[in-house]
Amino acid sequence: MRDTRPIGVFDSGLGGLTAVRRLTEAMPCEDIIYFGDTGRVPYGNRSNETILKYARQDMKFLLGFDIKAVVVACGTVSATALGCLEAETPLPVIGVVKPAAKKASEITKTGRVGLIGTQASIRSGAYERELRAINRDILVTARACPLLVPLVEAGRLSPEDEVVRLLLAEYLAPLLDAGVDTIIMGCTHYPLLADAISAVAGNGARLVDPGAEAARETSLLFGNHPERECRGGHLRFFVSDNVEGFAQNAEIFLERAVAEHAELVDMDVIAT
Ligand code: DGL
Repeated sequence: MRDTRPIGVFDSGLGGLTAVRRLTEAMPCEDIIYFGDTGRVPYGNRSNETILKYARQDMKFLLGFDIKAVVVACGTVSATALGCLEAETPLPVIGVVKPAAKKASEITKTGRVGLIGTQASIRSGAYERELRAINRDILVTARACPLLVPLVEAGRLSPEDEVVRLLLAEYLAPLLDAGVDTIIMGCTHYPLLADAISAVAGNGARLVDPGAEAARETSLLFGNHPERECRGGHLRFFVSDNVEGFAQNAEIFLERAVAEHAELVDMDVIAT
């Protein structure tokens, strides 16, 4: 029998929707409760202590529902705080770093892997550690990209957008100079820029989507359980600010109605 409790998913903002989209594809019967901390995004330029504090509050909010697992659909939290969250939570907690590193190690042919992420993710060295645990010979060229999350949150995603192109050209230059054949988009916001990243990186490099890999990991954990009577999972969205703006962007990205399923959360109340 399938455990019908929802899966909780959280991120600092929109980025975790990249995991939600893949979860709905891989596990179409599952109910999902999503929390995006839009009032405090970005997390990636904050200290590890602050990221852990926010992540604990995000977990506390989700654990207020009768859920069966939490997907930490945030590279920054996964890279800096996953161990603490796992130790404190009586449910499976699935992060994005390990599944993304595993995928990159499987698809790289040259062993030269590029990594882009937030400042906190790159500073943590978490992706490198996971990659080296799988294959010591993998050479990682990493670059923090602090301006990409605000761009995505502002809905600036197009490969034709000059600001997007210029920024990506600067951020990806060291990776391309190093001849990487695989790029881990180490922040879950970045797959929203996948077309723009591909346009700048050219056809040579394959992109790894961490949310997609975490979704795959989650579906392996719970199985897909196709049910004849499956009505399609129910999605609920909670954000800590600007419900309308979030819903607008989320509708474009998920290609489904979000506004009537989106609610505001007061994180000051959760924090007490
Ligand atoms: N999606 C988050 C991540 O994967 C963005 C972090 C941020 O808010 O800076 O890292």
